[in-house]
Amino acid sequence: MKGSEIRQKFLEYFEKNGHKIVHSSPLLPANDPTLLFVNAGMNQFKDVFLGNEKRDYERAASSQKCIRAGGKHNDLDEVGKTARHHTFFEMLGNFSFGDYFKEDAIKFAWDFLVNELKLDVNRLWFTVFAGDDEVAADEEAIELWIKAGARPDRILPFGRKDNFWQMAETGPCGPSSEINYYLGDEPENPEKNHPKWVNGEGDTTMEIWNLVFMQYNRVEVSEGKYKLEPLSAPSIDTGMGFERMAAVLQGVSTTYDTDLIRPIIDFIAELAGKKYEYESPEGFAMRVVADHARATAFAVADGILPANEGRNYVLRKIMRRAIYHGREHLGFDGLFFYKVTDFVVEQMREAYPELEAQRDFIDKMVRLEEERFGATMTVGLEKLEQIFGDSKTVDFTQLAKLYDTFGTPKDLIRVSMEERGIEITEEEFDAKFDKALKELQQSSEIGKTNRKAQINPIYAEVLKKTGVAKFHGYDETRIEDAKVVAIFDGEKQIDELTAGAEGSIVLDNTPFYAEAGGQVGDTGTIVSPNATASVFDTYAPVSGLIIHKAKIERGTVKVGVEVTAQIDAEKRDATRRNHTATHLVHAALREVLGTHVKQAGSVVAPNFLRFDFTHYQPLTSEEVKEVEDLVNRYILQNEPVETDIMAIEEAMNSGAMALFGEKYGSDVRVLRVGGGTFSKELCGGTHVRATGDIGSFKITSDESIASGVRRIRAITGFDAFERFRDDEILIEKSLSFLKTQRDQLPSAIEKMQEELKRVRREVEELRVKIATGAIGASSANGDEAREIRGVKVLAKEVADLDANAVRQLSDNLLNKIKSGVVVIGRKGDGKVSLIVRVSDDLTDKIKAGNIIKEIAPIVGGRGGGKPDMAEGGGSAPEKLSEAIEASYGAVEKMLS
Ligand code: SER
Repeated sequence: MKGSEIRQKFLEYFEKNGHKIVHSSPLLPANDPTLLFVNAGMNQFKDVFLGNEKRDYERAASSQKCIRAGGKHNDLDEVGKTARHHTFFEMLGNFSFGDYFKEDAIKFAWDFLVNELKLDVNRLWFTVFAGDDEVAADEEAIELWIKAGARPDRILPFGRKDNFWQMAETGPCGPSSEINYYLGDEPENPEKNHPKWVNGEGDTTMEIWNLVFMQYNRVEVSEGKYKLEPLSAPSIDTGMGFERMAAVLQGVSTTYDTDLIRPIIDFIAELAGKKYEYESPEGFAMRVVADHARATAFAVADGILPANEGRNYVLRKIMRRAIYHGREHLGFDGLFFYKVTDFVVEQMREAYPELEAQRDFIDKMVRLEEERFGATMTVGLEKLEQIFGDSKTVDFTQLAKLYDTFGTPKDLIRVSMEERGIEITEEEFDAKFDKALKELQQSSEIGKTNRKAQINPIYAEVLKKTGVAKFHGYDETRIEDAKVVAIFDGEKQIDELTAGAEGSIVLDNTPFYAEAGGQVGDTGTIVSPNATASVFDTYAPVSGLIIHKAKIERGTVKVGVEVTAQIDAEKRDATRRNHTATHLVHAALREVLGTHVKQAGSVVAPNFLRFDFTHYQPLTSEEVKEVEDLVNRYILQNEPVETDIMAIEEAMNSGAMALFGEKYGSDVRVLRVGGGTFSKELCGGTHVRATGDIGSFKITSDESIASGVRRIRAITGFDAFERFRDDEILIEKSLSFLKTQRDQLPSAIEKMQEELKRVRREVEELRVKIATGAIGASSANGDEAREIRGVKVLAKEVADLDANAVRQLSDNLLNKIKSGVVVIGRKGDGKVSLIVRVSDDLTDKIKAGNIIKEIAPIVGGRGGGKPDMAEGGGSAPEKLSEAIEASYGAVEKMLS
């Protein structure tokens, strides 16, 4: 059975059983800082499990793209070594949100495996949770498996590590039951098909499907302490390893031999001109490159790019490991990895059209990283050489990085330390190395933000009571019949807020827009006959609960009172202009730069807009101009801006753009500009009625924020006009200072700068002359230069001269004394620089380089050079006179 048929069969089976088929979400987690990458099918339903979000279906099934290469779920170090681990894989899953539970989940799994796929029941093993001091043993699952048809001796209990699943440190979780498959030759032979292989060593059995009985939310109660809170509705989350199931059904013993991955390996083998064998360093390298090429192609297509932090660092690590293995073990000496990722695109594009859509971009990003890496890559030992240099101090962070990004074996690192005579016991090495590695990996993970991501359950509870607030802000700026339905002081629910207090007010109806999709929350007022509150921010901790953060200016706001809610309309209008302009600039960037441009973040505020997008190089001034022209043309055409609500599938099929990292429900709002010909995007924000309302548009900056991600800022409407007016004033002022005409302003400035340069040079020359004269004159009288064993030594401190002038001065002085030694020290900016000159007739006896080596350490620095001239410096200006004085002694020493 082909891989694609298995995927289809799975989805069809569950669709037939009342499940809604849901698309894979992108690999970039949506609004979830607890995750590096999407790591399971259930991620996109996390809030549904937690009861913070409702869908219009209670059963779902999907085939989900996953990456497990960091955080709670990390298989990176297993890749290539086992027959079944991957960084990137697909997970087939069925889900129940408070609908069916354990019994049906087990029934479906049995029915699908045994009756649909016709797997040999003698090869199946089932594991259940053995229980611990927090969660009871899952006796029920044992009975249900037996009831479904499983052999009792094939059901095994295991502890937390194997049979309790959680997505991250916090979030939905529960005991699980895994189905394992025996891959050996003799399923009937109990000596061979033995329970010890289940969750044991090697690849004799392999987990193929995990059924999680979602019953808890794991929350952090204090730093590093967690507790389990029961979910309001027990749910089901299952995940089947797609590549593993393909291995089973295709009768091969590793996932790398399935039709999903073997062609990639064959492609690599051909490219390298080597044969693929499982048991060889080359075979291992080919598996790593194949796996990592899949992860890379899919990650880049979903807007994750290699860089130095967080998930982007993990991707860089994956890419660099692949490139390293290709060069080190497969003999590639030029760019090759981009060819492999392109092959992945070719192979998978039918099932995942996003790969095809981003094909050129993937190609470009991979090449870029390969070039970047290739330029610095000196593999293994050479890299160690760089880290150690001549020094014997060990920078464990650097070593850990080497291991982490190149996979340089730990042993090799230790051996090379020994070779350099660095003594360290194995225990000490392990302890220090592991600590550095842990710190390194933590710094690249998202652990720290976990707490913030945890939403206080109070909000979901209040939402249940108050119901979803109705938002009127698309059409209205003022609502007269709103009612206060809840009040919070921080995260504590209270009944009233009195004058002077700050708190959060929840209304049943509101015109206030809660911060979302980059658009900032509204500000305004909430007024009742007895009270006035000024709202300074609006946001929604859970979807549907709109919180107005407010300060009470007068009277008391109580739960139950009727109020008038009024937003600051002027600010909102400015925000509308910037929001619609954001859509236009997105469209214009794609038009001008290419369709690889994807929104990677945005801020829509009243006074500016900021737009982050994927692109690999700075915009040229020509490109900036083109984008501005295009947006302003859209504005002048005054095209209508309209919205429709539709099912997400319909929206996606219509070609509307969705944003990565954004979460969408089953019905979405689609914003069309110019009937959809200019721009069509999923968006819940507030917009102008027609593009002409934006007035004008100007980009104010373009910068890089990560590799492959750029950020532009822009202004619209009044702000753009004001900017124009301010600039005019600035120019007028400059013109009157420079007494010139507008079109001659740049050349006038240029002239002035040249003049300044010339004058500076003259001043410097004069200073050298003065210094030479002063020192030279006195030295002629014999009171400046000292005679050391018949050699004239002139050592001086100077001020106000730059490095060039000091060199010039040393020349002049040496010319003056003809035969001898000149030492000049100069301080400035907390630093010291030193120069030593020796006349040619003396260089066989006195070496300038040696003098500097004696005196530079006195000012806390170093120096070196040739026998006739040496330079150095240090960072202790207060010691300069001591160093100058020491030069006489240094000469003396050399002559004696
Ligand atoms: N979430 C569980 C897993 O990833 C089951 O889908 O194994």
